[in-house]
Amino acid sequence: MPQPGFIRDNGPVNHADQETPASAGPAPDDAAASFDGRQGDGDTGRSRGSRLHPRVTSFRSRRGSLTPAQQQAWDRMWPQVGAEVGDTLLDTTAWFGRQAPLVLEIGSGTGTATAAMAKAEPHVNLLAVEVYRPGLAQLLQQIERDDIPNVRVLRGDAVEVLENMVAPASLTGVRVFFPDPWPKARHHKRRLLQASTFALIASRLRPGGVLHVATDHAEYAEWIAEVGGAEPALTALDWESPMTHERPVTKFEDKAHRAGSTINEFIWGRIRS
Ligand SMILES: C[S@@+](CC[C@H](N)C(=O)[O-])C[C@H]1O[C@@H](n2cnc3c(N)ncnc32)[C@H](O)[C@@H]1O
Repeated sequence: MPQPGFIRDNGPVNHADQETPASAGPAPDDAAASFDGRQGDGDTGRSRGSRLHPRVTSFRSRRGSLTPAQQQAWDRMWPQVGAEVGDTLLDTTAWFGRQAPLVLEIGSGTGTATAAMAKAEPHVNLLAVEVYRPGLAQLLQQIERDDIPNVRVLRGDAVEVLENMVAPASLTGVRVFFPDPWPKARHHKRRLLQASTFALIASRLRPGGVLHVATDHAEYAEWIAEVGGAEPALTALDWESPMTHERPVTKFEDKAHRAGSTINEFIWGRIRS
């Protein structure tokens, strides 16, 4: 069971010079880049961008095509469990067809952890957000194949989901597994886990809710420890967690293991007051 702060250590990191995000494996996705024209964010201080100055996103706009089987699964499943990211508050009780603790997974990739953790936590409503359409299609295939009832998927920028689609103090948990490290200094502004994102996540967690982060990138781990540790609404978890911390090894993590990378893991709790 992971402990608060640094958790796992299985060797050195090997991709500190990586130019592109660590997720670069999958094919590029289509236009999911943030360009929503909205201004400001009094709530969190995070800049939303404008038409002239679109927000810097933690992902690149990429294209990727689906296999015929993925497309068929998409056509069947997307209307049932998928939605595009928008600017309207979600009615998750209606969408999931029940009221249950809500856990948000940011950057679900191909959905390996999403599907496994949803099966392990049938009492949880799991919302997966990803910009990469082929990854979402793989998750839809798993949902259909294993008849998983408690996952819904959103396609687009998770920051917009946090800002617009989930209410303050409504999430039981947030998971961020292997966020793109953007290792070059000039790209650090693209990192998902900035001070403003920690503040935004903390504001969406209910008191006692949990943020679970894992990374295989040593320098990003230091950044996460420092920036996340400075968020006053988050603290080391010293109460029983409302969600599991047991992660399956994802495809991406498996690669990191085989490369001998260190996995660092963080668990914070939203302070109760
Ligand atoms: C390195 S991959 C890790 C995927 C998965 N969590 C895993 O462990 O295999 C990071 C993923 O985050 C997604 N991503 C990055 N920024 C995002 C954002 N702002 N909103 C939604 N997804 C994002 C990328 O598309 C990519 O699939």
